[in-house]
Amino acid sequence: MVPKRYLVTSALPYANGPLHVGHLAGAYLSADAYVRFLRLSGKDVVYVCGSDEHGAAVTIRAYKEGRTPQDIVDEYHERIRKAFEGVGMSFDIYHRTSAPLHHETSQEFFRDLYANGAFLEQESEQYFDTESNQFLADRYITGTCPKCGHLDAYGDQCENCGSTLSPTELIDPRSTISGSIPVMRKTKHWYLKLNEHEEWLRRWITEGKIDGEEVHQASAWKKHVVGQCKSWLDGGLVPRSITRDLSWGVDVPQEIPGSSGKKLYVWMDAPIGYISATKQWAKDNGQEWEPYWKDEETALVHFVGKDNIVFHCLIFPAILSAKGDYILPKNVPANQFVNLEGAKISTSRNWAVWIDEFLVDLPDYVDSLRYYLYKIMPEQRDSEFTWKGFQDAHNNELVNNLGNFVNRVLVLTNKYYEGIVPDFDESIALNSPADAGMPSWHDAEMLDLFDQLHEMREHIKSFDFRGALRTLLEISSKGNQLLAVNEPWKHVKEDPDGVKVIMNLALQYVTALSVACRPFLPFTSDKLRAMLGLPSFTDKDEFVNLMNELSEGANLIPAGNQLPSARHLFTRIEDEVVNKQLEKLKQSATANNIDEAELNQPLKDEIVFQDFEKLDLRTAKILEATAVPKTKKLLQLKLDLGFEQRTVVSGIAESYDPQSIVGKEVVLVANLAPRKIRGIESQGMVLLAENDEGNLGFVSPPQGWDSGDVVK
Ligand code: 2FM
Ligand code: ZN
Repeated sequence: MVPKRYLVTSALPYANGPLHVGHLAGAYLSADAYVRFLRLSGKDVVYVCGSDEHGAAVTIRAYKEGRTPQDIVDEYHERIRKAFEGVGMSFDIYHRTSAPLHHETSQEFFRDLYANGAFLEQESEQYFDTESNQFLADRYITGTCPKCGHLDAYGDQCENCGSTLSPTELIDPRSTISGSIPVMRKTKHWYLKLNEHEEWLRRWITEGKIDGEEVHQASAWKKHVVGQCKSWLDGGLVPRSITRDLSWGVDVPQEIPGSSGKKLYVWMDAPIGYISATKQWAKDNGQEWEPYWKDEETALVHFVGKDNIVFHCLIFPAILSAKGDYILPKNVPANQFVNLEGAKISTSRNWAVWIDEFLVDLPDYVDSLRYYLYKIMPEQRDSEFTWKGFQDAHNNELVNNLGNFVNRVLVLTNKYYEGIVPDFDESIALNSPADAGMPSWHDAEMLDLFDQLHEMREHIKSFDFRGALRTLLEISSKGNQLLAVNEPWKHVKEDPDGVKVIMNLALQYVTALSVACRPFLPFTSDKLRAMLGLPSFTDKDEFVNLMNELSEGANLIPAGNQLPSARHLFTRIEDEVVNKQLEKLKQSATANNIDEAELNQPLKDEIVFQDFEKLDLRTAKILEATAVPKTKKLLQLKLDLGFEQRTVVSGIAESYDPQSIVGKEVVLVANLAPRKIRGIESQGMVLLAENDEGNLGFVSPPQGWDSGDVVK
């Protein structure tokens, strides 16, 4: 069924800290490209987000800084909102959960679920701080981790070893509010009977079915999302408390007996924030909100990070189902995490690339940041942000590929045709006069372009934004090839009519790129449109039009269109720019006791199988080993590959005594071009592993293997 409308959400960020690149790559840029693409395709889509302003973390921060929670959330709501705006996020509304409309909506949910018998009331013993006279939420208690001995573990989790804890497990618990030792006191709370939802949730997650009817395509959900849900389900769902003894949050409705002093648990009210945001959007725009949440023909899609999967795939659906009338998500395309320069991003340890700082330091490179984050998007597994990777992606792909193509086309158009899109004679675009009536070469190339845009569209539809970005870049590579193969600059004098066909086609490519890059690089898209003398987007129908026009063989930019004067689309990022950023991180590491040993070697950029296939790895035996004179690190090795012998220079002298390695089996990169090292021709490279201390060791094949065997 083709959805009639879409309601897209991105996880509501906590308003207790600024936004970093990990946030963007997790739940935001993917959604933004998806939504922008849907809009370009003329779909009815509403994209909501907002600040998650409740939860213990806000109060703790407020307490530590001697401010009120409201003051904290006001500050961060504004900072986050601005940062999102700066990177071009295209929310239809950025709402907040401290808004009265949100409190009302959440309370309505509580009331209805209460009336429907969705809750259990249960008394339990919880820690109470007698000095500050309040119950302590899990996050307000610290103590020694029973698993690893870390002294500052929280009541719900140890950040050192990652274990999930309950406050009663902590050794020597203390209140973070007063520092006193808390005592146990009885308190009553409401629990969502999640166990009663287990059966239907299992079928819904694994088969996409409700009451035997397919409501979503289960195979279209990411494997890691389904996997995480299954392991929760297999562990058995249990009633989950959805209220807290807190002073900040949404009140449990007054008329409910025992509600005094009770607030909704932040994960009870936060997802309802999507609904209150939609209500506010509808109010502001004279629209109805209900079809977006209650009509089966709406596709609801939640973009989140992997730590939010259980809330969006099990708990919130259970809440929606218990409320009745509400639709369930069609998909929850969660991403995994992005690490930074070899370590986990951490707000408290200032190990992050902060978006508001990026916008001040590198204001001209917002689309480059977006580009890089799409490129490394952790769609299936964790990935790595490195400043070098950012610089390379920008310089090699945006400047040298996309920017270079656009620039060459526009400069040549100015030079040959005074900036006017050239018309061409159709008969010249035929391969031979005998082909009259057949699609011309120009037409065939345009159909090719159609296929590539179609491919990009399919990637986006299946939440494969990395794939979509690759296709985008392939289009620009093809454009570059078009120029490189046909060399218009060589033929413009002797074959001006032929060159017009090529230049017209190149301009069609640039125009297609101005549309196709819009979901990912909105600022670049605007720039490109202006450079082509075309109107900016209305954000509606452009992609459909483009595809229709292409399939009908029409041109995307008309001959005769006057281009304004050309300017560069991108400028290079020099080393000093990224070095400055690396320096900042270094300082932060020093200030926060992040030592070298903690930093893993960041993973390099992803390669495709064909890249790996180029390597010819072979097992080999060391026949001789001698020190290279006047060097500390180098050994000269003679290797036996079975079918031949090789001389290789290897930097392992500090790790091995030459005599001790004779007879050792190693792995050789056998097809590496020979190079001279200290006057010796090294015919390949031996594989070595390096540990944290910088010690090197040979990578060895299993014992007793023949020399010359293929390693793959
Ligand atoms: O993990 C987080 O940052 C939460 N604030 C996400 C909430 S998503 C939604 F349910 F509101
Ligand atoms: Zn621990």
